[in-house]
Amino acid sequence: MSDFLSIKRELPELGIGLGLRRELAEQTLASTASIDWLEIVPENYMGLGGRARARLEAARSDFPIVTHGVNLSIGSTDALSEDYLRDLKELLNYVDAPWWSDHFCFTSQGGAYMHDLLPVPLNMEGARHMARRARQAQTFVGRPMLLENISYYMQMPGSDLEEADFLSEVLERADIGLLLDVNNVYVNAINHNFDPYRYLDKLPLERTVQIHIAGHSHGPEMIIDTHGAPVIEPVFELLEYVLRRTSVKAIMLERDQNYPEFSEIIAELDQIRTIAGASNPLALRGKSA
Ligand SMILES: [Fe+2]
Repeated sequence: MSDFLSIKRELPELGIGLGLRRELAEQTLASTASIDWLEIVPENYMGLGGRARARLEAARSDFPIVTHGVNLSIGSTDALSEDYLRDLKELLNYVDAPWWSDHFCFTSQGGAYMHDLLPVPLNMEGARHMARRARQAQTFVGRPMLLENISYYMQMPGSDLEEADFLSEVLERADIGLLLDVNNVYVNAINHNFDPYRYLDKLPLERTVQIHIAGHSHGPEMIIDTHGAPVIEPVFELLEYVLRRTSVKAIMLERDQNYPEFSEIIAELDQIRTIAGASNPLALRGKSA
């Protein structure tokens, strides 16, 4: 068994979580009965005092917290930023995160940050490059690392691997975990015309520690991963499919804009909890399981 799979067995089962967002913070922090854990964007809290840290201080006293970053830029050819990794490590210590995550993408090149999760060329050279850096990052930070499949709206030139094969190659070579976003799988499957179930079957699903689920919107030519709408039934079905095949430690609802009444968010969390319980009672135990 790989080291990571032994580590996964020891990770805590966090249950059903939500992202800590400034706009929803008050209601989120008051909902300890319905929300098991919180995910934060570490870049919003690194080295900051004031309101952000005060919010985090309140959150960490009532919830387990994991981070989900955007600026690691694991696919870039720039050197990994030691400053970034040091700040991240400090924050992970502060919240005592059981794991941390970022994305299969690059967000900076030549020192310029692009504020977007950009796809990398899907080939063996790229997979080896990303895996080498992921190993370095995980070793530096000293806590289990996950990478998330992104939604993408173009194919990078120089690609000759299917996405699922590329991700598998990186995960196995780096011996890290998967943060599987089932909405991203659905969005990409529609936009790039592939079978999402075949895609899932090709992934080493046993490496999944955490799942993201979200809603998306319809653009003129493609569907867009906006996190600004309710989760649709085919995406819940993908969640169910994954949970029948592997146990995970945490599921998180992503809602980042177009906020509904908070009760609607809680209802979606309850629906996720029901699916998690019904698909495989041993897969994940949240507060009500
Ligand atoms: Fe996600």
